[in-house]
Amino acid sequence: MGGARAQPAAQKGFRFAFLPCIHLRRDLRSPEGFAHALRTVRQLTPAPEFLLTGGDMCHNLRDQTIAQSVEVTDLFLKLYREHCALPAHHCLGNHDLAAWNQASTAASDPLYGKQLTVKKLGMRDRFYSFDHAGWHFVVLDYVRVRAPGQFTAEVDPEQLAWLGEDLARAQARPTIIVTHAPVLSAVELLSDRAVRTAEALAVPFGRVISNGPALIEAAKAGNVRAFISGHLHLVERLELMDRTFICSGSVSGHQWTGPRLGTPAGFGVFDCHPDGTFAFRYEPHGWKA
Ligand SMILES: [Fe+2]
Repeated sequence: MGGARAQPAAQKGFRFAFLPCIHLRRDLRSPEGFAHALRTVRQLTPAPEFLLTGGDMCHNLRDQTIAQSVEVTDLFLKLYREHCALPAHHCLGNHDLAAWNQASTAASDPLYGKQLTVKKLGMRDRFYSFDHAGWHFVVLDYVRVRAPGQFTAEVDPEQLAWLGEDLARAQARPTIIVTHAPVLSAVELLSDRAVRTAEALAVPFGRVISNGPALIEAAKAGNVRAFISGHLHLVERLELMDRTFICSGSVSGHQWTGPRLGTPAGFGVFDCHPDGTFAFRYEPHGWKA
């Protein structure tokens, strides 16, 4: 051994796949499309080490009963088990609140709202963080509940306070923050959802997080390399203020009816390097609606 001190094994880079907006439903051949997307993830070389979903895993649970929401979530789990063996980390989207728009009788059910998705998909909580190979990942909940059936698109004060502590614990680890809706968007100004008046060209309520600046400020506590999201079903990468903001399309395209404004169904492929840099590409998975 020659008395030489053993060096710690150098961290290797790794790949993960990011699959926002799966919108699983029973019709529109969505189950086949989801299985196809998972098979495409499996064929990536090098293989991803885990999968992040990015919210809206199941379509429109908010307008379904608890029983219907359980049924489609069980279908999600069955398809995932059958077609993907990778660990998955899930994130809440606006479609993931079971029976949210149903009569208030549903509100007493222990699986009402966020709880169904959190419990059945095995999320540690509605927001959480984890580490992987020297990197840190933070998954946030942008659905700020106001009253049954109502929410604002906002990361609540509890999470902002927790984020500061969590990032301090993560120290210098390169970090990616995941939210369902983007923190910022320019591409949405070009979409059919933009508000165009004589006075303004604007991204309307709910399309981006309304307190994005507060989230960016809280993120200064850590070594945040990117904010990543879905929700718009469009792809964009913004580089500003030494930060990267990526909206990574949609596994379902335009909710399984074809491309969304020319953006095909696909998912993000992230290659994270030990020095804190990363590469991103959007990978269309080729599903034909
Ligand atoms: Fe979506």
